[in-house]
Amino acid sequence: MSIDPVLVKSTFAAAESHGTEVTAWFYRHLFEHHPDVRPLFAEHMDEQQDRLFAALGTLVSQLEDTDALVGTLTALGRRHAAYGTLPEHFPAVGASLIAALRHFAGDTWSPEAEAAWAAVYGIVADTMGRALAEAGTSGADG
Ligand code: HEM
Repeated sequence: MSIDPVLVKSTFAAAESHGTEVTAWFYRHLFEHHPDVRPLFAEHMDEQQDRLFAALGTLVSQLEDTDALVGTLTALGRRHAAYGTLPEHFPAVGASLIAALRHFAGDTWSPEAEAAWAAVYGIVADTMGRALAEAGTSGADG
């Protein structure tokens, strides 16, 4: 993988040090820029905020283990079929996620970090999107 895992891990750790503030900021940004996705989410988001962040931490820790990463993303993508997620939602979520990381990563952020995260998110969206499409069309188990 051409992604620099050190860069991704260090920026994630810097952003993560701000705790639940990061996911709260992410969801505010997402719903402000894409109000159309708001109805997909539960009205009260506290628990969901923690779960999304935990999932991101798992993905970052699996960057150098492609099989594990693909397994996690495939399972996550299948579950998202039940949440009403569509392939066209991925760019919106990716833009808000990278905006949140940029906002909270402080001095660790750079054009290289931005490029690395764009590449990571490309893998996330492709792999989750494929599993989502398969779950949607074949009714595959989750
Ligand atoms: C980086 C990509 C993403 C990650 C890591 C992620 C992670 C998660 C996690 C961990 C959950 C908790 C439930 C579970 O584990 O199955 C969840 C729920 C959910 N996700 Fe995602 N997700 C991503 C992308 C998306 C996208 C593109 C959408 C589309 C708008 C979306 C919409 C939802 C919804 C609607 C729920 C259920 C929320 C609720 O119960 O209110 N997610 N996500």
